[in-house]
Amino acid sequence: MAEPRISSIDGRLAEEFAVPSHIEEVKGKMSAFATHHAAAGHRVVLITSGGTKVPLESRTVRFLDNFSSGSRGACSAEYFIESGYAVIFLHRHRSLYPYTRTLSTINILDALQVRGEADGAGNFGEVVVNQQVLPNITKVLKKYQEVKDNRLLLPIEFTTLSEYLHLLKAAAQALSTIGNKAMFYLAAAVSDFYIPASEMPEHKIQSSDGPLQLSLNMVPKILSPLVKDWAPQAFVISFKLETDATILLEKARRALSTYRHQVVVANILDSRRGYVLVVTPSTQTELILAQEDIQNKLEIEERIVSNLTSAHSKFITEQVGL
Ligand code: PMT
Repeated sequence: MAEPRISSIDGRLAEEFAVPSHIEEVKGKMSAFATHHAAAGHRVVLITSGGTKVPLESRTVRFLDNFSSGSRGACSAEYFIESGYAVIFLHRHRSLYPYTRTLSTINILDALQVRGEADGAGNFGEVVVNQQVLPNITKVLKKYQEVKDNRLLLPIEFTTLSEYLHLLKAAAQALSTIGNKAMFYLAAAVSDFYIPASEMPEHKIQSSDGPLQLSLNMVPKILSPLVKDWAPQAFVISFKLETDATILLEKARRALSTYRHQVVVANILDSRRGYVLVVTPSTQTELILAQEDIQNKLEIEERIVSNLTSAHSKFITEQVGL
């Protein structure tokens, strides 16, 4: 079946997906961030991370969620920053976050201790970090503060599918001003199904009404207008998640020929921490971490980011001659 026309996807976005009230403010922030960093000679990557939430009721009690911890996106953000990129981190509220992700198993109340007593005169004693976690926290905090001081990370949050779609469009338009210096790294897990606002019940669905039958519409494939219309000069990477390894390569190739973007990073749910396939129109490269590497805390994102930053450089160089 032919792809829907770009204008029809734009129209559907406006009509069927609630526009977040802060969209213009966020778009302004993303534009200023991109312009500032491009002027400073940095490339800018937009990372999407975490899963979208699709409400089943307007006053939402129940919803559909796409699986993603946000680890891929958060971890990749750190390696992109190390490689000289500025990062717009469009992520699901409360999913894993760059730098703090490595501390996510620490209970903050176990990590801190109060020394001294409150004296009733505004002195509350001193809070100190336990020796056990101090080296780890200090290392992460130093990196985080450096990134903050240099304003290299712009976090933007989404929760629902509607927010994700509109924020991604706004990001694409904001980054279009820096042409091929922009990269899109679309690692979020995005729902393919939704209930249009006009068909959504307002109140909680009642179990007393009997078994629930849902009819869900297809979400427009946002990659299509992103590549063709919103940011046509950018370097675009989509992710492909499958659970059946035998169809992975074929699905990645099909995505490349449908959307005509530059790279698909394909992965299987169970092996995603140790294996990905980086597919371009003319190549396919396996990136693999051995079990031992994973135990030694090596991260496959370091290899993914290294592969993609090189490919981005080549993409920019090849366009100079055009
Ligand atoms: O977060 P982790 O736990 O570390 O897991 C990482 C991950 C497995 C989520 C990640 O590596 C990954 O594979 N992300 C993509 C998952 C996915 O939902 O793929 P998909 O087949 O639904 O979508 C493929 C591509 O199409 C995506 O790049 C998406 O941006 C795009 N898409 C999807 C839906 C839609 N309506 N429009 C789109 O353009």
